Amino acid sequence: MKNYRGILNTPRPDKPVENPKVVLITGATSGIGWATTLLLTSLGHKVIAIGRREDRLQELQAATKGMLGEVLTLQGDVTDGEKMLQLMAEGLAHFGRLDVLIANAGIAHRGPLVESNWADLETVLRTNIDGVLHSVRACVPAMRASGGGHIITISSVTAVATGPGAGIYSASKSAVDAIARALRVELEADHIWVTNIWLGQTHTELAQRRLGTPGKVASKLPTMTPEKVAARIVWAMERRQRVIILRPLDRLIIWGGRLFPRLLEKIMYRVYR
Ligand SMILES: NC(=O)c1ccc[n+]([C@@H]2O[C@H](COP(=O)([O-])OP(=O)(O)OC[C@H]3O[C@@H](n4cnc5c(N)ncnc54)[C@H](OP(=O)(O)O)[C@@H]3O)[C@@H](O)[C@H]2O)c1
Repeated sequence: MKNYRGILNTPRPDKPVENPKVVLITGATSGIGWATTLLLTSLGHKVIAIGRREDRLQELQAATKGMLGEVLTLQGDVTDGEKMLQLMAEGLAHFGRLDVLIANAGIAHRGPLVESNWADLETVLRTNIDGVLHSVRACVPAMRASGGGHIITISSVTAVATGPGAGIYSASKSAVDAIARALRVELEADHIWVTNIWLGQTHTELAQRRLGTPGKVASKLPTMTPEKVAARIVWAMERRQRVIILRPLDRLIIWGGRLFPRLLEKIMYRVYR
């Protein structure tokens, strides 16, 4: 596979990839998690797919029927550490090992940091930060047991390019970046690699389901498809990249924002207003 676009454009193989992996993905019931699960399974990988909506898990099981790989759908909430340990044990009992964690589950919020309902802010923090930590803590022992692994976390361009009303989501995604950097140094000796994706706006259910103030569901920035993001995630599984930024636009926002923070604040004020 030359690049990740190749994964998108190549017709699906008729035999599994040479080195099929066991992958645990959270947030598999829609958007990026759903598209990634379909792509992984079509390539012959084995996927432990986690989400809360049981009907969606059943749909996912049906959608992957007959594909080269196998999906084990498990219902669970990433904010529940005990449950994540239990789901990991079920996944291990079924597939026997774990190679990759894609800590993808997440939730968005729009509203001011001071006036927003605290329960909503807490849900974002519990899901986007605790959820990643619970997933990692459940998966790392299994990776250590099989001699190594790969953790992929999903941060956001918004972690740098925040705007009015996007504060708690930005804060949670900044934390994901910090967690990924810390894990990379803590787990290196265990041969567990960590890749963090600084993701730009993607057309999924995230904006419709977000907590906080209703209003426009998306910013004025161009969007990607979840299939494109899925292809890049699967591509990343075969490589040792620390950070992935998919588009030149996102790279410009992140590096431009670091060099010219005041200018970025002004732009983001207009984008989010
Ligand atoms: N879309 C974008 O523009 C964008 C940009 C940057 C980063 N991201 C990140 O990309 C990731 C995937 O989001 P998406 O865009 O694909 O949105 P999505 O379509 O809304 O998917 C979010 C997934 O997370 C799951 N989830 C939410 N809370 C959960 C919980 N407590 N326990 C278990 N699963 C939970 C949801 O399933 P259930 O409700 O069934 O549990 C759903 O499957 C998120 O981390 C998001 O922050 C997205």
